Amino acid sequence: MSSAEPRHGREMIAVDRLSKIYGKGDTALAALDDISMTVREGRFVTIVGPSGCGKSTLLQILAGLVMPSTGRVVVEGKPVTGPSPDKIGVMFQDAWLLPWKTAVENIEFPLALRRSPRAERRKRALPLLDLVGLRQFADRYPDELSGGMRQRVALARALAQDSQLLLMDEPFAALDALTRRTCQDELLQLWEETKFTVLFVTHSIAEAIKIGNRILLLSPHPGRVKAEITDVDQVSSEDGSAGRLEHQIHDLLFSNADKEAAAAH
Ligand SMILES: Nc1ncnc2c1ncn2[C@@H]1O[C@H](COP(=O)(O)OP(=O)(O)OP(=O)(O)O)[C@@H](O)[C@H]1O
Ligand SMILES: [Mg+2]
Repeated sequence: MSSAEPRHGREMIAVDRLSKIYGKGDTALAALDDISMTVREGRFVTIVGPSGCGKSTLLQILAGLVMPSTGRVVVEGKPVTGPSPDKIGVMFQDAWLLPWKTAVENIEFPLALRRSPRAERRKRALPLLDLVGLRQFADRYPDELSGGMRQRVALARALAQDSQLLLMDEPFAALDALTRRTCQDELLQLWEETKFTVLFVTHSIAEAIKIGNRILLLSPHPGRVKAEITDVDQVSSEDGSAGRLEHQIHDLLFSNADKEAAAAH
């Protein structure tokens, strides 16, 4: 087995009966309810669901930034008790950059935390700046960059960490269509080469089909796993199967079947 092949079998993520309630009493809000799932090492799993269904909450819990109300979350065999930036690469929806550091220094930052030598950090960061098309902006500060450019720096920073697990929350949402496609292709190519594990949240069903092996559909209020679609990499845009799957997912997400079932009881 080559090193680029996933070592299937080992669980990278195990979530068991997870729920999250924000607040207390009258203002309590159930963001996630009874979520159970596992992700094996080397898989690329996408999460799709309507706004407010708890996708970001789930990723923040996995990253150790938000504590669950009940349930168990295990990453690489160990219960998550707090952030572990050395192990998990994250790119959140409202990705922030350090305003006093330039684009290239922001990308190097996680490596600096790990005390990697300066020359090595630069060697890692510059090709990533090329990858996201920002080489000529290496020495600019975040407030000199557009929102989409800042998002691309955050993407390069997440990739710089070479983590075994990458949690990405709508990483390409702020990008124009062309840059988005390039970033998707580059991420896929990197993933093909190294087979890290990815959990990727997106609003775009087409994006989920294009890049994931497996899609988890979440339903809202509270967020639950509504359906799971496996073998997504078997569909193709050429024979129309990708388009059919897109329609199916759309119907699953926006069907009233749940409401009708509830009304019938
Ligand atoms: N820190 C918080 N305090 C209180 N409520 C919160 C907090 N964060 C999220 N929520 C609530 O939890 C629910 C889920 O939010 P979350 O951000 O996880 O959804 P999402 O699926 O990522 O939505 P979007 O697609 O719009 O990004 C929402 O109803 C939101 O109002
Ligand atoms: Mg979100």
